[in-house]
Amino acid sequence: METITYMLSGGMAHEDFTGSQGLLFPGDLQFMTAGRGIVHAEMPVNLDNQTVKGIQLWVDLPQDLKDIDPEYRDLRAWEYPTATSEDGQIQVKIISGRALGIEHRRPLVKIPLDYYHYTVQPQAKFSQEVDPEWSYFLYNFSDGTIDIESQTIKPHTNVFFNDGGDVIEGTNNGNEPVEFVLVGGPKLNQKVLHYGTFIGTSNAYITEKVADFENKDNAFAPLHHWRSAFSDGVPPQFIADQVAARQQRMPVSQTAEAR
Ligand SMILES: *[C@@H]1O[C@H](CO)[C@@H](O)[C@H](O)[C@H]1NC(C)=O
Ligand SMILES: *[C@@H]1O[C@H](CO)[C@@H](O)[C@H](O)[C@H]1NC(C)=O
Repeated sequence: METITYMLSGGMAHEDFTGSQGLLFPGDLQFMTAGRGIVHAEMPVNLDNQTVKGIQLWVDLPQDLKDIDPEYRDLRAWEYPTATSEDGQIQVKIISGRALGIEHRRPLVKIPLDYYHYTVQPQAKFSQEVDPEWSYFLYNFSDGTIDIESQTIKPHTNVFFNDGGDVIEGTNNGNEPVEFVLVGGPKLNQKVLHYGTFIGTSNAYITEKVADFENKDNAFAPLHHWRSAFSDGVPPQFIADQVAARQQRMPVSQTAEAR
């Protein structure tokens, strides 16, 4: 599978046994392809006492890509556009997709995805075009509610939509702004089995991967020599370097190749 981590506030440090390291700041995203196997650390980081808050999505890999090399990339907060409606009542961070006339598509993970972060002001109505053949969900992470077809969606609630429609619309009938993510992607039409964080389309595949992990074999051979640099906490110097680099908007993640 692949993970997409989207930070809303606070920081998150990442490290994995391919040699990648990085620090996510508010608005940043990280994409990690587990592929044939990866072991990683992700640790919250105190940035000016901000609450550490984020959303992590697990995205299944198509069957024929299950054994690709593990990989880590990121997308910084300034690398995707924010669209605002003419009346200023709707704001959409377009991580990938098309909203309010602005198109911005990125190959985030191996399958194409729409990924929007909406902020809807009180009494405003949003309307998002969607692909009728894709699956979509909406996750509300604010303290407000939004009404979709006479159902009120409460805070910290996930809503899955039936397919076949080409638009998702809703209204903020409350008194506070509401924030949610709306995410969609194609259906893979394959089995999704899991044992903890091991994902596969068959039990035999998962059993093989668990054995490799336990024996430090094949994809998990790096475990013979790897020890997380974050084992005793994220080193303050690492955080300081990352903060300094960000102030100059330099790439602050490193891959094994880059080093
Ligand atoms: C963070 O919280 C600590 C403990 O309350 C406080 O001493 C410090 O000044 C705060 N730092 C910032 C940047 O707000
Ligand atoms: C989000 O949650 C808040 C409360 O935490 C709720 O008032 C609001 O309606 C929810 N919005 C959506 C889109 O579900």
